Amino acid sequence: MRARIVATGSAVPTRVLRNADLERMVATSDKWIVERTGIRERRIVVEGVASSDLGTDAARAALAAGAWEAADLDLILVATCTPDMPLPSTACLIQRNLKATRAIAFDLAAACSGFLYGLSVADLYVRSGTCRRVLLVGTEVMSSIIDWTDRSTCILFGDGAGAALIEPSSDDRGILSTHLHSDGNLWDLVCVPGGGSRSPASDKMLAERQQYMKMKGNETFKVAVKTLEATVREALSVNHMDIKDVDVFIPHQANVRILNALVERLGVERDRVVVNMDRYGNTSAASIPLALDQAVHAGRVKPGSRILMAAFGAGLTWASAVVRW
Ligand code: ACO
Repeated sequence: MRARIVATGSAVPTRVLRNADLERMVATSDKWIVERTGIRERRIVVEGVASSDLGTDAARAALAAGAWEAADLDLILVATCTPDMPLPSTACLIQRNLKATRAIAFDLAAACSGFLYGLSVADLYVRSGTCRRVLLVGTEVMSSIIDWTDRSTCILFGDGAGAALIEPSSDDRGILSTHLHSDGNLWDLVCVPGGGSRSPASDKMLAERQQYMKMKGNETFKVAVKTLEATVREALSVNHMDIKDVDVFIPHQANVRILNALVERLGVERDRVVVNMDRYGNTSAASIPLALDQAVHAGRVKPGSRILMAAFGAGLTWASAVVRW
């Protein structure tokens, strides 16, 4: 038995932060940001909006698209590195908002790879027969962990959410494979050092700005290209596919130069690649489901389309999934 994605949804804040706005905040320029990252603008929440709010909106859109009732959900999985609070889980808060009273709910932490980690877990729950109706949400308020005085990170990220509904498939459509990888030796390439049990909230921690993301951008960049290429080749090989068999390629939306390097190494035709980072930046766990939902709405994903998704993120984590739509 396979599991398949039956519907998607997404939500982004209405507030747009353009490169020109960042020029007034840090020593940067629109030209530098566009050339080095491909990002032109990103969406940022207004104060008080949290990951569960965006996640609930994306979930409602997916439920409407799939004509599912929240009360029928068995499982709610939420991938996020910006939960509303350390506890309870953001998944439980979304469950409450949706009134999905029957569902069990929990969070997954795999940063930008979170949606594909969640897809793998959903796939296993469905194929084992444990759950029939799964809601998977990737949601982030990255602006809450961004140091708006650090020009090397604040230009990259945006807020948003994407959701997918997953259930057993009755035909040959569905999730064909998922591959997950982790390497904790590289934990310090991207991290938020403060606010957890190693360095709890304190005046000292705040003075050192440890509550914000720190990133070794250059090293992350190189590892990203290598790991993404490896996980895509692994997925193609396991499915006995050539890159030409992929109808829609959805890579994590981190940096257009990472994407270009990957596309060149793999020989993917450009018109098969979904790119929206110019408008949304890197939305971490929301990146792939947001791009997937937009590709669905744009008519780029058709019944039978073979979709390849690949992501990397803090951890380090990286992952891929192949889906027949
Ligand atoms: N504006 C202008 N100049 C800048 C900016 C900026 N916003 N940011 C950095 N610079 C400067 C640097 O200070 C440096 O100056 P120097 O040469 O005088 O020292 C110069 O530009 C080059 O800096 P690099 O860091 O080498 O620039 P690079 O080309 O590597 O681009 C970037 C930096 C965009 C961060 C890139 O490395 C990148 O995208 N890395 C991957 C990040 C990523 O994808 N992370 C995903 C994981 S995140 C997660 O999982 C939550």
